[in-house]
Order: sequence, then structure tokens, then C-alpha cells
Amino acid sequence: MSSAQTPRKILVTSALPYANGSIHLGHLVEYIQTDIWVRFQKMQGNTVHYVCADDTHGTPIMLRAEKEGVTPEALIEAVHKEHFADFSEFLVDFDNYYSTNAPENKALSQDIYKKLKAAGKIATKTIEQFYDPVKNMFLPDRFIKGECPKCHAKDQYGDSCEVCGATYNPTELINAYSAVSGAAPVRKETEHYFFKLSECEPFLKDWTRSGTLQGEAANKMGEWFENGLNDWDISRDAPYFGFEIPDAPGKYFYVWLDAPIGYMASFKNLCQAKGLDFDEYWSKESQTELYHFIGKDILYFHALFWPATLEFSGHRKPTQIFAHGFLTVNGEKMSKSRGTFITARSYLDHIKNPEYLRYYYAAKLNSTMEDIDLNLEDFVARVNSDLVGKYINIASRTAGFINKRFDGRLKASQANPVIAEMKSAAARIAEAYDHRDYGKALREVMSLADQANGFVAEAAPWVMAKQDGQETQLQQVCSDALEMFRLLTLYLKPVLPKLASEIELFLNIAPLTWESVTASLAQDHQINVYEHLITRVDAKLIEAMTEANKENLLATPAPQPHSEQRHAAHQQNDANAEATEAEYISIDDFTKVDLRIAKIVNAEHVEGAEKLLKLTLDIGEQKPRQVFAGIKSAYDPATLVGRLTVMVVNLAPRKMKFGMSEGMVLAASDERGGPFILSPDTGAQLGMRVK
Ligand code: 2FM
Ligand code: ZN
Repeated sequence: MSSAQTPRKILVTSALPYANGSIHLGHLVEYIQTDIWVRFQKMQGNTVHYVCADDTHGTPIMLRAEKEGVTPEALIEAVHKEHFADFSEFLVDFDNYYSTNAPENKALSQDIYKKLKAAGKIATKTIEQFYDPVKNMFLPDRFIKGECPKCHAKDQYGDSCEVCGATYNPTELINAYSAVSGAAPVRKETEHYFFKLSECEPFLKDWTRSGTLQGEAANKMGEWFENGLNDWDISRDAPYFGFEIPDAPGKYFYVWLDAPIGYMASFKNLCQAKGLDFDEYWSKESQTELYHFIGKDILYFHALFWPATLEFSGHRKPTQIFAHGFLTVNGEKMSKSRGTFITARSYLDHIKNPEYLRYYYAAKLNSTMEDIDLNLEDFVARVNSDLVGKYINIASRTAGFINKRFDGRLKASQANPVIAEMKSAAARIAEAYDHRDYGKALREVMSLADQANGFVAEAAPWVMAKQDGQETQLQQVCSDALEMFRLLTLYLKPVLPKLASEIELFLNIAPLTWESVTASLAQDHQINVYEHLITRVDAKLIEAMTEANKENLLATPAPQPHSEQRHAAHQQNDANAEATEAEYISIDDFTKVDLRIAKIVNAEHVEGAEKLLKLTLDIGEQKPRQVFAGIKSAYDPATLVGRLTVMVVNLAPRKMKFGMSEGMVLAASDERGGPFILSPDTGAQLGMRVK
């Protein structure tokens, strides 16, 4: 934006994370992507409000709270604190981070519902649903398991088969059982409330053509229209953690009805705090812009239900919906067994610096829905070569001379072609940020950094410093290099806000905005003493992080049921994606685990391992097995030798940092103590099956 234009008023959201799991590296793609965009728009001088919240309602959260013996309110409060701390430490700078379980959201959801009803868009229908007669509750599809009607695979979820990929209704499952109580569900009639989405088709078709969606998303919409739109079931029966539907006792809004309204509620809460005008942003006549950043798996909700809800309740529609792809790590889905299912907290504990990840993601991101890969080796190489080797290098090779020889004073730059080139790149870089093509923006910036390094290398200030009569020249070269460094910092600021503010302090300048491109460091400007700004990422830290995440498996808490809201095929980035299993397993599941009595024939410490002991286990096979067990804190290895224990022998061998682990020994532990390894009763012999 040039200063002549009126600043834009923009409201931006990221998807609301569920309040029943930790933030992980998959989630962070979206929050970092959004935060960069918001920071860029703010640097342009636009008025931007970035709001988000925890998505707190629904059956999985209700059941998890029950299982943990706390109220849902207490659970979501604890998770809110955790999420907020994670986001803050990753420098995701929300203007408000709220909760969907809030009075503003209740009032807005009920009001929107009433408007939809008045517009004739709500219908009731009696439907038949599975009901758990032991737990006395209707069961979401995800909490019903049984045999796939197509391929007869056992223990499939109520909505789709993970073996053959078929999708179906839970009523079609063979020998269905409740994942909550294990009881056979019964069919029971109940009255549900529906939003008549089928009637919204003409409006939605029109809206799709308005340029609100990315090309790929518009194609997806085309497919959905071809298949025809079904009315949307927006009610759930008690017991349900959510908001009650007005004039419908015992009926609650389905979590996906009030979740996007949570965007409005978070903003409303911000309006109260800051004295902003809510209607200016949400009324039908609004002249402001509204952008939703989401993952491609929730496009259906944001491109169909949400605009229709807004339209028929008399509100404005989103200006654009920006969907991104999923995250893979080392080319594969994040995996607990490979140690690549990494939480935000675990990254912070090990790697510490959030800006490395922000930089890496930014370098990989573009405006499409393609998946992005975090290759851990490439992460180390990229961060070290770009940030340390190219960018910071410019200051670290020149600032010392200014500090020591010229009392921190600079010379104004004089027609330096590299600086001119850098300034002329501003519009191109801004356009790339604006279009969410951060990869392109950073390629531009790094090519400018190459030019700056070329300039410094050619001028060789370290040579000048040793020669007489080159003082003026030396001061000029180093001042020019620092002016280049200032411009690069400006361009990187949306991605590296903390580093940028440290550099602003070092350069002794006001916070950089996009307009600062036109300014320059003045003659005699005084800088502060240069101190080391960033260190290289140590590949060992990455190894330690993935190892720690593998080791955590030994202490993984009881799995949680899937969130009901996502389709199986879309579970990739869900916090519970891998840990989620029903609470009951079938006998077939159990017999898959081959448990044997094993004799510990050797036990020893492992150099460099904090938690592990290396065990050699005899189970009567020709060759003893080697297992790394996380029991070092509780056992002196010498006391283990000769003992019998219980071992899982058919666990796929895992390559660990210290060697292959060919099974697992069973041990008990919780907050009261442990680990305590299991021992069989007298008489058990090595190699015996445990069943
Ligand atoms: O898919 C999810 O993780 C949802 N909690 C996202 C909700 S976004 C918005 F609509 F509330
Ligand atoms: Zn199947």
C-alpha cells in the first residue's frame, strides 16, 4: 500500500484448534502462515485484527473430561492456557485468543439460529440413530465400531473403513459396538434440527464464482455441487457439551455450528476490550475484508456451511478463504513410532528457537493446497546456510569495525548499486507476501543477501582495516553493508519478528515498517554494540528431539477417542491422529499382540541415553533380542540380569539412535512411581506365551 491509499480494515482468522489435544508441528503450519500474513499487512499500515479461539464443544471433549474426572470447563481452561502459551512462544501474535465456550458465542449462535429459522432455513426431522443403552447417550459415528459392510474388516469406525476406504452409514456396520461402553448399540428415534443447505445451492454456486476460493477449492466445490447438497444436521441430543438450542430443551447445537461463529465471538470480545465496532466488520454492508486461513480438510465447512449460515442470517461473507495442505515430516505422515509426531512444546524444549521453524515453513509455503514437507536434515541445512551463513553474516563481518574504529557512527550510503537493487525489490517481495507465496518472497530476499555478501567479500573490509589511509573507505563499506542488513531485516520481519526487533535495537532504529524501505541510515547515525544474534541449529538437537518423542511412547497415556468431527481420510493433522483408538478393542486385536516370557540375560547402560537401558532378552529363539527400554531411572542394570519378564515380541523392530530395538518389555508406571517391570509368577518358563 502506498501512503496515498486508505488503509484497509482486515479481520483475519486461523482455524480454532480443538480443546482436547496439544498443538503440534502440523497445526503450526497454519498459525505461522497466518501470523506472517498478518504481520506483513500490519507493516503495510493496514488495520488488521487477528482472532482465534479454542474449539471447545462436542462429545470427545465431554467424554475426555469425564474420564479425567474433571468438568469440561476445567479441562478446556487448562488446555486454553497450554495452547495460548504454545502460540505465544511461537510468536503467533493474536489480537485475541478466546474460547467458543463464551457468553458472546452463545448469544451469537442463538441469534444466528433464530435468524435462520425466521428465514425458513431450519427444518426438523425424526431420524434413527445409534444409542448406547449402557451409557444412555446417542453415539457419534466415530464412537461406533464394527465390521466393514464391504470388505468385512473388523473394528472399523462408523463412518468409513480404514482397510478398504469405503464410506458408509454406521447403520450398515456388522456387529456394531459402542466405543464408549462396549455395549451393542440400539437404534433409537430422535428429532433433529437441520439447516436446509440444499436450498442454498443457487446462492453458493453464485458465491463460488465470486473469486473467493483458490482454483483447487473451487474445483472441489464443483464436485460437491455435482453430487448434490444435503441438508445439514445441526443438533445433538443431551448429554452434550455445548449450547442448548432455543426452545428445544435437551437439544444442543452441533459443535460445527458454533465453532465458526467463534470467529465472530472472539472478535466481539476484542471489540469490547478495544472499543471497535462489531457491525462494521460483520454487517451485510461491511466494507471491511474478512479472511479465513484453514486446512484443506475443513473446506466443506468453510466454503459451504459457513457462507450459507452468514448469508441467511443477514451477515457479510468471507472475502477469501485460504486453504493450505497438510504437513509431512521427512516425506511421511507424522508418526509417533518414528518420533516425528512432535508437539510445539517438545520443539521448544529441544530446539528452543521458534524462528528457525517459522523460517523453514515460510520457505516452503505458497498459496496452493499442496502438502508441505518438513525434512529435518534439510531444516538444519537451510536454517544454517540462509539465516546464519547468508543473512546474519553480513552484520557479523562488518559491525565490529564500526563499533571499534568509528565509535559506532555510520556514513550515509552513496549510490551503492546493491542497495538500489534491494530497494527496488520491495514491491516484488510485498506482492509475494500478499499472495501468500512466502517461498518466493524468501528466495528473493536470499538472492539479495547473496548480493550483499558478494559486495562485502569483494570490498574485504578486513583487508582495508589492516592498511593505512583506508579509514573512510572502510567506514563506507561497513555502513553500506549495515544498510543492506537493515533492508533484509525489514523484508524478513514478518517471518522473524523477534530477531528483527533485536536488530532494530542494535541498529538503534524505530520499528521497521514497509515504508522504512524509502528511508536510509543517516550520516553519523549511531548504532549499538553488535552482539551475537543467532546460533546455528545443531543437528544433534533434532536427533535428541525425535529420540525423546520415540521414548515418550513408553509413557503414552491411554488413547483418546477421535474427534467426531473429522472424516477418517482427513485425520492427518489431528492432534490425536495416531493415539486415537476406541476405548475397547476386540479379542482379535488383543491376540495380535504376541506376548512371551523373556529372560533378561544382559542389561547395561547406554552411553548418551538419558532414559534407556539396553537389555538382551532370551525368549527361546536362536538369537537373543536386543531391546532399549526406558527404565534407567528405576533400575541398576546389574539387578536385572537373570530376571524373567514379559515382552512384546512382534512389535516391528525400531531403529533408534543407539541401535535396533527388537521388541518391548512391559512396565507399570504413572504419577505415583515406576517404571516397574512385570514379572511372571513362579513356574513360568522363558518363551511361554502370555495370553
Ligand atoms: O478441524 C478442527 O480442528 C476444528 N476445530 C476447526 C474449527 S475452525 C472454525 F470453524 F471454528
Ligand atoms: Zn472395508
